Amino acid sequence: MHNIDMDSVEMTLDVMKYALNRITMISPELGKPKKEEELKALVGETVTAKGIGGEKAFQLFKDVLIKATVPIDHPRHLAFVPASPTRAAIMFDLVTSASSIHGAYWMEGAGGIYCENEAMKWLVSLTGMPRGAFGVFTSGGTAANLSAMVTAREEWRKDENNQGEKGLIITSIGAHSSIKSMAKVIDADVLLVETEDQMKGQYLEEKIKSLTPHQRKRLFAVVATGGTTNAGIIDDLDGIANICQREKLWFHIDAAYGGGALAADSVKHLFKGVERCDSITIDPHKWLFSPYDCGAIIYKNPQLAKNAHTQEGSYLDIFKDEGAHGFNPSEYQIQLTRRVRGLPLWFSLAMHGTDKYKWAVEQGIKLAKLAGKLIEEDPNVELVREPSLSCVLYRRKGWTPDDYRNWTYKNHRDGFALVTPTKWRQGDSFETVSRFCFINPDTTEADIKAILDSMA
Ligand SMILES: Cc1ncc(COP(=O)(O)O)c(C=O)c1O
Repeated sequence: MHNIDMDSVEMTLDVMKYALNRITMISPELGKPKKEEELKALVGETVTAKGIGGEKAFQLFKDVLIKATVPIDHPRHLAFVPASPTRAAIMFDLVTSASSIHGAYWMEGAGGIYCENEAMKWLVSLTGMPRGAFGVFTSGGTAANLSAMVTAREEWRKDENNQGEKGLIITSIGAHSSIKSMAKVIDADVLLVETEDQMKGQYLEEKIKSLTPHQRKRLFAVVATGGTTNAGIIDDLDGIANICQREKLWFHIDAAYGGGALAADSVKHLFKGVERCDSITIDPHKWLFSPYDCGAIIYKNPQLAKNAHTQEGSYLDIFKDEGAHGFNPSEYQIQLTRRVRGLPLWFSLAMHGTDKYKWAVEQGIKLAKLAGKLIEEDPNVELVREPSLSCVLYRRKGWTPDDYRNWTYKNHRDGFALVTPTKWRQGDSFETVSRFCFINPDTTEADIKAILDSMA
């Protein structure tokens, strides 16, 4: 397996040819899932004692398996939070793998970590956080949120009075599901401010006032959202910062999706107060055009993260040694061994410059506005709310939840588009509606029109 022979050279060329072809593809086939039994029937046993050979395995992958996946960068994939990695970033993802760099410690990964840190400096500069703020790349928003919550909880538990207590976090209904999930991981409770719309400072204040003295004692963090997943809503970050400062609470912002918009001059003002947070999640694999997986967590005071996350072990002692000194990404988040997953972003930033990133993010915002206009002109549909960042919620007049679901499946089956329904909450009632999330700057007006026409 580790020998270099003609077969492995030929296989490498085949793989490179495939990668080149895929990297340069503008509109890849919109694949769809098949049941596991169907896939098994089509490809047969692939993992066997003697192996089926690279050529055959690759052929099965190309002919059958890749077709059962949805390319996240398809211009009419507007569901969930899609993605659109730059070609430069994808190329460098190959280089990152080929380079076999261990990204946990400077001692082994210095050159790669240096590149990541250059990209990180740009991310930090987008937030306007004070000097000394810094962060690391993680496997995604969930891991970034968890890393921040662990740091906040550890800081709170430094006070002996809090040591036997179960922590409590306040966030809003608009917060991403990962906040509740990660609270389970750290065994903290979550209280929700009852709004899917913007969480205002005043709502947070009311929620804090409603706590019992014991709940107030247990409260250690507030999580605001900088671009909700469902509707692109940015919480009142400045108002929330005021309260967190006054109440001495950790202020975390989950901008996993919306954080890319910090690069866009047209909406940056909506994030006023972002610079005052204790920690912020921004996912380059969402709106900063990195391949999966690449999230990021930035801390106002990275030393607190280091206190919380540094692992101890005799086999790790060498990293404390003078000769091994440098920035160790593993000390600032939950993962030890890690891919230098910020490298593709660094290469793409270095190749294209940050202005192109601004342009590409602005494009997503423009597409959302354009979709809003097209929806207003179309008698069959109407906006549920004004587009926010790159999210658009709209209803097809007269449709039931089943109609939305059947329409989604039909478009997907036809290989035409992936646009999925969501629910929008008004008071206690939920309405099923349709949702666009624009990331890919290559999505066109014709794409949006064609999707709306398919609802006629
Ligand atoms: C606001 C927000 N936070 C967190 C996440 C989770 O990120 P990941 O899927 O990278 O773990 C998402 C994913 O869509 C998100 O939109």
